[in-house]
Amino acid sequence: TRSVVLGCGSYLPRQILTNAELAARIDTSDEWIVQRTGIKQRHIAAEGEFTSHLAIHAARAAIADAGIDAQSIDLIVLATSTPDNTFPATAVAVQEALGIHHGAAFDLQAVCSGFVFALATADNFLRTGAFKRALVIGAETFSRILDWNDRGTCVLFGDGAGAIVLDAQEQPGKPSDRGVLTTHLRSDGRHQSKLYVDGGPSSTQTVGYLRMEGREVFKHAVGMITDVIVDAFKATGTSAEEIDWFVPHQANKRIIDASAHKLHIAPRKVVLTVDLHGNTSAASIPLALTVAVRDGRVKKGDLVLLEAMGGGFTWGSALLRW
Ligand code: ACO
Repeated sequence: TRSVVLGCGSYLPRQILTNAELAARIDTSDEWIVQRTGIKQRHIAAEGEFTSHLAIHAARAAIADAGIDAQSIDLIVLATSTPDNTFPATAVAVQEALGIHHGAAFDLQAVCSGFVFALATADNFLRTGAFKRALVIGAETFSRILDWNDRGTCVLFGDGAGAIVLDAQEQPGKPSDRGVLTTHLRSDGRHQSKLYVDGGPSSTQTVGYLRMEGREVFKHAVGMITDVIVDAFKATGTSAEEIDWFVPHQANKRIIDASAHKLHIAPRKVVLTVDLHGNTSAASIPLALTVAVRDGRVKKGDLVLLEAMGGGFTWGSALLRW
């Protein structure tokens, strides 16, 4: 059994915040932000617009793209670090909005690696036969956990959501078969203090703000990303040349470029959306995937490599034939 992608979709809040607008509020500049990160703008959720709302839009778009009845979905895995509430899971709000009252829906939290962790989780459930059709969502409103006076972090992140529909299908097991080929997940809690939110239900009963040692994250990122991609290559006997599209977590253009360069992935194969979306954490990969599918780059049968790294640290890769 393979988990085959039936469709994808995404949603970005209407309001765009440009670097110039940020520079009018805090001591920064378009030039500094673009040079260090590649980010030009980010979308910001409106007042009263929550992670679940973004997720529901993205889920509906993915379901429409897949051309399926929402009732055929029996598993929803939603990756987020910015849930609407401490509990219940934002995934059950999505489930309810879609009118689904069977199967299971839950949230999963691996910060920026959330989508890869959610994809791996859904893939494993589908391959064991526990569920038949999954909605995998990454949705975030990081604008709500940013310290807008900290120029070292507030310029980096944005809001958004993306989703894919995965279907369990019997396959002969050839490399040319469509579906998720392999996933690799890692974490190392020694790095917790380098990227965290300084609050939470059990420790402070507040939500808190994102804190990051940017340089420390940068220092580890490329090595971790490339290691876990090499794991994917080894597990499947594939190489960088065979990859049609590289769709990395969109944190920073310099990290993406350095990772692609180290792996010998040609720049023309790299899907980049960080310039327009900023870092949308768990939402960035399905947002980027949807852009590349809609503009005709990613086509059925293409070999697509995903990777992410984030707080924890957590990191992971997924290789799939679209
Ligand atoms: N505008 C202008 N100046 C700034 C800004 C800003 N927005 N932010 C920081 N600076 C200043 C600093 O205050 C510092 O000034 P100083 O030398 O007078 O003290 C100077 O710029 C250099 O600061 P550094 O933090 O050392 O700058 P660096 O070159 O490392 O760039 C950045 C910072 C962009 C955050 C970089 O470290 C980075 O991209 N790190 C990775 C972060 C990341 O991608 N995190 C997300 C990954 S995980 C996840 O997705 C959750």
